[in-house]
Amino acid sequence: MTHESAFRPAVFKLFDYIAGKTIEEVKRELGLDNIVKLASNENPFGPSPRALKAVTEELTNINMYPEKSFLDLKKILAEYNGVSPKNIVVGHGSETIIQLIPQLYLNPGEEVITADKTYGRYEEASKLMDGIIKYVPLKDYRYDLQGIMDMISPRTKIIWLCNPNNPTGTIVKRYEVEAFLGNIPEKIAVVFDQAYFEYVDDPDYANGLDYVKESYENVIVLRTFSKAHGLAGLRLGYGIAHERICQMLDRIKEPFNLNRLSIAAGPASLSDEQWLSKCVTENKMGREYLFKELTALGCHVVASQTNFILFDVKEDCDMLFKRLLARGVIIRPASAWGLDTFIRVTVGTMQENKRFIETLKEEL
Ligand SMILES: Cc1ncc(COP(=O)(O)O)c(C=O)c1O
Repeated sequence: MTHESAFRPAVFKLFDYIAGKTIEEVKRELGLDNIVKLASNENPFGPSPRALKAVTEELTNINMYPEKSFLDLKKILAEYNGVSPKNIVVGHGSETIIQLIPQLYLNPGEEVITADKTYGRYEEASKLMDGIIKYVPLKDYRYDLQGIMDMISPRTKIIWLCNPNNPTGTIVKRYEVEAFLGNIPEKIAVVFDQAYFEYVDDPDYANGLDYVKESYENVIVLRTFSKAHGLAGLRLGYGIAHERICQMLDRIKEPFNLNRLSIAAGPASLSDEQWLSKCVTENKMGREYLFKELTALGCHVVASQTNFILFDVKEDCDMLFKRLLARGVIIRPASAWGLDTFIRVTVGTMQENKRFIETLKEEL
């Protein structure tokens, strides 16, 4: 196609997003019925009943655009996090905000720094704006903040911190971030992607929100309703940052970047603390079960603070992925991160976890 020469060179550097296979796809492709999906870190317990009720009640209004300022939602998110509505920017999934940040900061040839094994969308969103990606290797499966500091140059504009990190499930700690943030030039945006923060139980966890509240003008926190809140299919995420950052992200985003159903579901889910706490507790039990069973199987398991676990099966993970898939168990091989013998598995219901372990035992 000769027309293609008109495309921006940056788009040729991007990769297609590799999503976890859906249950529908596996049913279609393999003709299987009894499938468990433990590949995309979704909440296996479904959405909160309150969120479901709110969505149902909102259904008859979907002929109308949502309110453009999203002010009511912003007020609720602000109150929940102890900030002002001006410190909130919303989007259909935190993915939207990940896309917007490089649009706000990057001129061609400017640099972003992140870990070599982390959530891939930081890299793609930055490349699209002709940014240069600098990778810092993880140290013992964790972000190396000193390594990031050493990588800073006059061209650095964004530091992406996935905390907890996907795919390792590890966190950076408060004492590490405190030593780090003070040394970062003010013009560099430091993004704390906290997609999995509800699952964290380590008291030393560095919650980026604390630094926004401490008036770090360059810190951006990302949150999502896709994981612990069980609303991945509705697409609702948000950022918390200095009001000037939020104002500018709001300006460059598309006007109606949330739908009425997600606007109704988010606050209802936030109000259902008992339900969230039950999901988090069940997840913790499942995480401990998987850790114990996988360790007993002789796998090296990375201790996780999330709803997924990364472990080394000491054999080709893509081959194992195919064998598990053929038996109706969908997991994520970690080869995309260069971890060719590692599997990332989402913590499911206890029944799903047991099915996964039994199937794995037979396939290893
Ligand atoms: C670390 C991380 N950040 C962001 C996202 C995007 O989430 P969403 O766009 O559904 O809010 C994901 C999804 O898997 C993730 O793992």
